Amino acid sequence: MEPPTIADVLDAQRLLAAHLPPTPIWNYPALDAAAGATVFVKHENTQPTGAFKVRGGITLLSRLDPAARRRGVVGYSTGNHAQSLAYAARLFGVPCTIVMPEHPNPAKADAVRRLGAELVEYGATFDDAAPYARSLADERGMRLVSAADEPDIIAGVATAYAELFAQQPYLDAVVVPVGSGSGAAAACLVAAALAPQCEVIAVQAADSPAAHDSWRAGEVVRRPNRTAVEGLATGSGFALPQRILRERLADFVLVDDDEIAAAQWRLLRDVHTLAEGAGAAALAAVLADPDRFAGRRVAVVCTGGNASEAELRRCAERPYTVAVAQ
Ligand SMILES: Cc1ncc(COP(=O)(O)O)c(C=O)c1O
Repeated sequence: MEPPTIADVLDAQRLLAAHLPPTPIWNYPALDAAAGATVFVKHENTQPTGAFKVRGGITLLSRLDPAARRRGVVGYSTGNHAQSLAYAARLFGVPCTIVMPEHPNPAKADAVRRLGAELVEYGATFDDAAPYARSLADERGMRLVSAADEPDIIAGVATAYAELFAQQPYLDAVVVPVGSGSGAAAACLVAAALAPQCEVIAVQAADSPAAHDSWRAGEVVRRPNRTAVEGLATGSGFALPQRILRERLADFVLVDDDEIAAAQWRLLRDVHTLAEGAGAAALAAVLADPDRFAGRRVAVVCTGGNASEAELRRCAERPYTVAVAQ
């Protein structure tokens, strides 16, 4: 399996222009004050599914041949890859089955069902859902769509970064949250071609460090998967994004769930933006390391906004110990 090229990304951008408008990118003085940097928020939470993943789902499904479209697709996900596939499947009339770990975020589960996909709950984590999805796909003759070991998914997701560098060409760094690594790998591919001066920095949750540790080890490793932050909750690295990250990623950092929740609150309060935990992780990484980002121009990708009602209530009620800049 070969990584997509920048030509594949530009092809995906032409395709997606018919389906998704560009997402906005804005700078907020309150965040600049908190970070001591010039911070740009790329609002992928404004996608129709509430997350950047839809770019990948539409790209992959649009490229399936007619027979594969008739047989349908199976995905496993904590919710946003799921919504992406369900959305694209509805668009192209493709049968779609999604396996989510048990007790999923109800906002994500309901959205998948409303998009017309079949939802199966299986296992405690993403890592249990994966082999079950594989067996379902085999049994039913459907195409299993990995969250990240898919060149078309990475090419589709990469269009967010082609857009970002057109909107803000002079960035010093972009910080990307990681679960499987499709988004960070995509950012690396596009930065190399369009913004070589821009560092790509990845961030994962300290309680689920598999992608981070895989990158540091130089090989795919498994790790405990305990974060409550859905999009970042993977227990194993994914081979294709890891291969791209190994070549091009500037750094990979970890933040804890509390730092993510504090950044989520800050986005809600100062940016009037509803981010789910994963969507706030990039900002959390910037706020956690002020020396590194001081005086620099840095983009944080608010990758998604599909927080559950319980998560929102917890977020608003937390007694934050993190200093809040005025
Ligand atoms: C909102 C959100 N942000 C970030 C991620 C991580 O993206 P990736 O799996 O491409 O690393 C996900 C993954 O599902 C997500 O849903």
